[in-house]
Amino acid sequence: MPVGYFTDSLHSDVRQGLGTAPRTLPPKWFYDKRGSDLFEQITRLPEYYPTRAEHEILTRRAPDIAALTRAATLIELGSGSSRKTRLLLDALTAGGTLLRYAPLDVSAAALEEAGAAICRDYPDLRVAATVADFETGLPLSDEPGPRLLAFLGSTIGNFDAAQRRAFYRTLSLALSSDDVLLLGADLVKDPGVLVRAYDDAAGVTAEFNKNVLHVLNRELGADFDPDAFDHVALWNTEEERIEMRLRSRLAQTVKIPDLDLSVDFAEGEDLRTELSCKFRRESLTAELKEGGFTVRHWWTDTAGRFALLLAVPN
Ligand code: AVJ
Repeated sequence: MPVGYFTDSLHSDVRQGLGTAPRTLPPKWFYDKRGSDLFEQITRLPEYYPTRAEHEILTRRAPDIAALTRAATLIELGSGSSRKTRLLLDALTAGGTLLRYAPLDVSAAALEEAGAAICRDYPDLRVAATVADFETGLPLSDEPGPRLLAFLGSTIGNFDAAQRRAFYRTLSLALSSDDVLLLGADLVKDPGVLVRAYDDAAGVTAEFNKNVLHVLNRELGADFDPDAFDHVALWNTEEERIEMRLRSRLAQTVKIPDLDLSVDFAEGEDLRTELSCKFRRESLTAELKEGGFTVRHWWTDTAGRFALLLAVPN
């Protein structure tokens, strides 16, 4: 990444997102060290089923994925702690095809921690980690093919329809005809189940949501009082997505000195911090087709909550 990229993009995201109503922030700013730790805790909550559901599918299907792709490189977008990655690495290593693991993440700290552990446990594997913001392009180069590009955890759900179209375009530019996309996608289901997954009884998701305010306080000298906002998770029926918001408990003005910005919140005004879109087989298959990918395999957990799909460039 160019020097100053993160500060520059944080500045422009916050200026754009908070400068005018409705106020929004992109979810990628949740993930400092504390935010990443809180997300890890979320994945172990009884209400948050997606991680376990995807793990169930991967446990069962990793050997199929290895046999179908015979991948020489595993590229992983937004690898995070890469716990699920090991299921793929084990299957691809057993299949004897894998040479290289190439994780891409916005967090250098997460890459270093996860990368070091993978290097230790897979001594024959070449690990090439890249700090990258894959919304703006995919820095792929000389990885041996065929390449399996994994985008797990339903992080795709953080993008709205327009962002997903742009993302598919970026992917199809970067991938060649013998590469394969492995995508994890959370599915539309009972709204009560969905809302509870994003508003857990222990309040961990509320802390995770408010963490973005701590990030802005530290990085931009802002004076957000996290206690002056309520965590809100609502199901948007029209768009079929969970929206996380921070709702101002009172009329207040927040100062952001590094941007020379002061933001007025009315009582009850929302700051939208995350979209988590939920998918259906037909429409996701159709938008991938439109974006340049043909779905070849679609697997779900036994409860049918989550899907893992393999798609190839058209
Ligand atoms: C990591 C983006 C897939 O949307 O479910 C968890 C993040 N937000 N609880 C999701 C998240 C609130 C998560 N993703």
